Amino acid sequence: MRVCVIGTGYVGLVTGVSLSHIGHDVICIDNNEEKVKLMQSGQSPIFEPGLSELMQSSMEAGRLSFSSDLAAGVAHGDILFIAVGTPPLPTGESDTRYVEAVARGIGEHLNGGYKVIVNKSTVPIGSGDWVRMIVMDGISERQQVPVGVGAPAAKPEDPMFDVVSNPEFLREGSAVYDTFNPDRIVLGGSNPKAIAMMKELYEPIVERQFAEDKDAPQVPILVTDLSSAEMVKYASNAFLATKISFINEVANICDRVGADVVQVAQGIGLDSRIGSKFLQAGIGWGGSCFPKDVSALLHTADDYGYEAQLLRATIDVNTRQRLLSLEKLQQMLKILKGKTVGLLGLTFKPDTDDMRDAPSLILIEHLNRLGAKVKAYDPIVSQSGMRNGMTGVIVETDVERLADGCDALVLVTDWQQFKDLDYGKMAQLMTTPNMIDGRNFLDRKTLEEAGFTYSGVGH
Ligand SMILES: NC(=O)c1ccc[n+]([C@@H]2O[C@H](COP(=O)([O-])OP(=O)(O)OC[C@H]3O[C@@H](n4cnc5c(N)ncnc54)[C@H](O)[C@@H]3O)[C@@H](O)[C@H]2O)c1
Repeated sequence: MRVCVIGTGYVGLVTGVSLSHIGHDVICIDNNEEKVKLMQSGQSPIFEPGLSELMQSSMEAGRLSFSSDLAAGVAHGDILFIAVGTPPLPTGESDTRYVEAVARGIGEHLNGGYKVIVNKSTVPIGSGDWVRMIVMDGISERQQVPVGVGAPAAKPEDPMFDVVSNPEFLREGSAVYDTFNPDRIVLGGSNPKAIAMMKELYEPIVERQFAEDKDAPQVPILVTDLSSAEMVKYASNAFLATKISFINEVANICDRVGADVVQVAQGIGLDSRIGSKFLQAGIGWGGSCFPKDVSALLHTADDYGYEAQLLRATIDVNTRQRLLSLEKLQQMLKILKGKTVGLLGLTFKPDTDDMRDAPSLILIEHLNRLGAKVKAYDPIVSQSGMRNGMTGVIVETDVERLADGCDALVLVTDWQQFKDLDYGKMAQLMTTPNMIDGRNFLDRKTLEEAGFTYSGVGH
């Protein structure tokens, strides 16, 4: 099928690359010219395991191209994905101006046969109908163009498109894997023709042709109305964030009563009604999705006169949890002014280069305010141009330079390579070998044998 993906960030690029890999003819559009040039040269602007390889092979096969020409993209695709960002506004609402610009642009260029416009961006509930309206506005605006100028006019009373909501559930760090091995595909829309086209698009994935386990049962497709599909996305993220905030609250109680949250989480997680995932206590959730999606859902509830107390508590617990390592540092070092703190990891989770709303940023800000010197090492940030873009922190190029002269280390991101560092050597380089394990990721015994004073989260 002919597909156009508009917005080539973490979601759009992975979607475009994956759909071309399974055989579709895909053009990816972005209005960032620099990014487009980079992708046209076969390079991925983001770090995501496995993405570059698939991108290059699909480009070589002639099934994947990149452009900043929206008109060309709209003309190419029978299915048009909107995958631009919906970042949070200071009020907690989603900033939908990028979606709006794309929807209007699609309307202005819509021509010819029937198209399915797919909302892949996480958009506030009700946005499906709103996108439809904006596309229609775009069509009308084009009709105002005098005869003989621009593309021939379309008839707004005779729409040639449908809007489908197709929320994305991929996790950064395993986005390619998740795309080929999804738990479910959600399609929100009312026109059976549009839904049928979406089912055809995803058929190879549904049939597990590209899955790790090709014998696994087919991927369930859930067809809903537009608003319900949009709500599935928000409710999924809100539930996962709540689960983490819940175990963090339990961890804080464990810390006070002398229980171990790692053992407690194991005991809870073995209950099949609960499950073990998202029960790892730590210094809070971050990233580009949970904070903004939980806030947006809270805001929507508020708009409709409902006080979502559980969502509010989920956010409040997380806000406090992000400062937990600071409290622990103060307990260990007392005055932080003039002390040097080293951060192991900067990204909000391992295997990504995404720094949006990373817990490390809050920590850096507070440590700076308290007069501490902050150093950091991150497997991606330290080795890339991102290193120079960080403020308030010295980004070291290896862990020994990081440890050198530190009064304490805080493990912020559970990068796999942090499991087996030479902690004995690092302890010797530090002024005082203290370790706050913000993800309960390291082995306490190993650290203590290496000479560290170890503190976990409820552990
Ligand atoms: N990142 C995730 O893990 C994830 C997971 C699920 C859902 N989502 C949702 O998917 C959406 C996209 O997220 P992301 O992380 O990929 O965003 P991103 O910021 O990484 O990428 C957005 C891209 O859109 C481009 N863009 C902006 N305006 C444009 C325009 N008018 N025309 C063409 N391109 C334009 C930007 O240049 C950028 O490349 C968001 O709504 C997000 O909530 C993200």
